[in-house]
Amino acid sequence: MTTVLGISAFYHDSAAAILCDGKIIAAAQEERFTRKKGDSSFPVHAINYCLAEANVAEQKLHHVIFYEHPLTHFERLMSVYHLSAPKSLRSYLRAMPSWLTNKLWLDRVIARELGWKKTVVFCDHHLSHASAAFYPSPFQEAAILTIDGVGEWSTTTYGYGKDNLITLMKEIRFPNSVGLLYSAFTYFTGFKINSGEYKLMGLAPYGKTIYTDVIREKLIHVDADGAVQLNQIYFDYVGGLTMTNAAFADLFGGPPREPETEITQREMDIAASIQAVLNDIVLRMARHVKRETGANNLVLAGGVALNVVSTGLLAREKIFDKIWIQPAAGDAGSSLGAALWHWHHVLGNKRQAVYPDAMEGAFFGPDIPRESARDDKMLTRLGAVWEAFPDRTLQRHIAELIADGKVVAIARGRMEWGPRALGARSILGDARSPKMQSHMNLKIKFRESFRPFAPMVLEEDAKSYFDISQESPYMLLAFPVLHERRIALSDEQKSLWGIDLLKVPRSEIPAVTHVDYSARVQTIDMLRHPFIHGVISEFKVLTGCSVIINTSFNVRGEPIVMTAEDAYRCFMATDIDCLVVGNRLLERSKQNNAPLSEEEREKWLKRFDLD
Ligand SMILES: [Fe+2]
Repeated sequence: MTTVLGISAFYHDSAAAILCDGKIIAAAQEERFTRKKGDSSFPVHAINYCLAEANVAEQKLHHVIFYEHPLTHFERLMSVYHLSAPKSLRSYLRAMPSWLTNKLWLDRVIARELGWKKTVVFCDHHLSHASAAFYPSPFQEAAILTIDGVGEWSTTTYGYGKDNLITLMKEIRFPNSVGLLYSAFTYFTGFKINSGEYKLMGLAPYGKTIYTDVIREKLIHVDADGAVQLNQIYFDYVGGLTMTNAAFADLFGGPPREPETEITQREMDIAASIQAVLNDIVLRMARHVKRETGANNLVLAGGVALNVVSTGLLAREKIFDKIWIQPAAGDAGSSLGAALWHWHHVLGNKRQAVYPDAMEGAFFGPDIPRESARDDKMLTRLGAVWEAFPDRTLQRHIAELIADGKVVAIARGRMEWGPRALGARSILGDARSPKMQSHMNLKIKFRESFRPFAPMVLEEDAKSYFDISQESPYMLLAFPVLHERRIALSDEQKSLWGIDLLKVPRSEIPAVTHVDYSARVQTIDMLRHPFIHGVISEFKVLTGCSVIINTSFNVRGEPIVMTAEDAYRCFMATDIDCLVVGNRLLERSKQNNAPLSEEEREKWLKRFDLD
């Protein structure tokens, strides 16, 4: 058996993945183990987990692949520092120590952190993204598009995958970058880069696209093929310490919003405008890639592929028959991509695309089994009270609780790979409830009230709720709620604006219908999600509705829960009504432990940096 370990580290969301004879055995992000969101440190825990899950001692590990070329990345940084000196001095001094101690000496880092020696092979950053998108996809051949902030030099690439080989045909190079453009607006609207992009996207439907002309005329030039050039007069990320500068602020009526201050109509309008520009760029790129490759299907990765609004639009435009997105489309997923590239492209192993894809629902993380003496012991020690049920009974109970307006958290099976909770570490609720969005945002997640929730829908019923053009098992495509499911608005309601829009139920499933009637859909099929499929089927029997809310099992700033213990602690610190751990059901009202006081809860929430 040949084993290949892929690693991504040091920038954002470090991760590891392992293949045994080309099959994906395990993949996980370091943040889930260390409980530090987006942890960028060397992924010691994730690597050790992968080796243990694959039952591979380090002596039996054949290949270690890193997801980019540190030397080429370093060369890019040095040329930027050189060209933008003396402005870049502070940025240079801040970056150098970690380069000189870690990033350039990976074999030493492995020896130091893991205690063993291996020769490390390097894969190009965008080739890692492209591989993560193509190799596990259901397509024997497909066009490939990767869009992110920046790798070594590339910021966007496209090409073609066929059988076991990938050819990248063209690239856009730093400093021109669609990802950095979107991140610049994330920064300017007061959100954190690398995590706040979701918030900027969620804010867009509350605004008007009044700044699109300014963006197009001043900030960027977009070619017919989607290639962008950023006017560096307005940006500061080349050698500077911030994303945008005073000239940028002048275009948008003043300085950037301070984090955690009130969100105003300006931020909403900016969000709407940059989303519209991004949609246009992504569609232009996709049309160009279609023309150049002639492929029927498209696969995507890179951080921008996580923008579900643009990808949903791309799917509905039907430029390609089908699109497939790597669920861990950001840099974490590139650990898997690098390993797959080595196995197929370098070692020359054959590839046969499998149905529905090779990701197995993206459940490649640590397991919470149905029954486990260890979890029983841990829960008893924490004072938990539960009752255990067979699957069918448990599915019915969960459905009944949700139909009764209860919020149910699930921690069961192997943890998800990538940023989305897909039913193994999820909080579920009734999508029909008009109060659920605000309740879950404020009392369960302790996060901003404007944040939308996503629906899970039985795949076979998806078309009767959403204008959906293809399956969406990884919650990576937004689709509109069908007109017949919408609720007509009064004239008074139509005149509402900004956050006030939230107060109006817009469809039969208001908790998952965004103010522009879009929804970030997860389709649930029997193959990938048999347990959740059963839960929603029971819910449908009870209520006639095939849609429930699915949000990640965590609070604001907390990585998604991983272990049964993480799950119980999050359950007790929030207003979640019921918790499922394996085959156990824990009801809040039956717990001997008193709920946390406000003070204790505040203390617990402070453990996590705001995202
Ligand atoms: Fe990337």
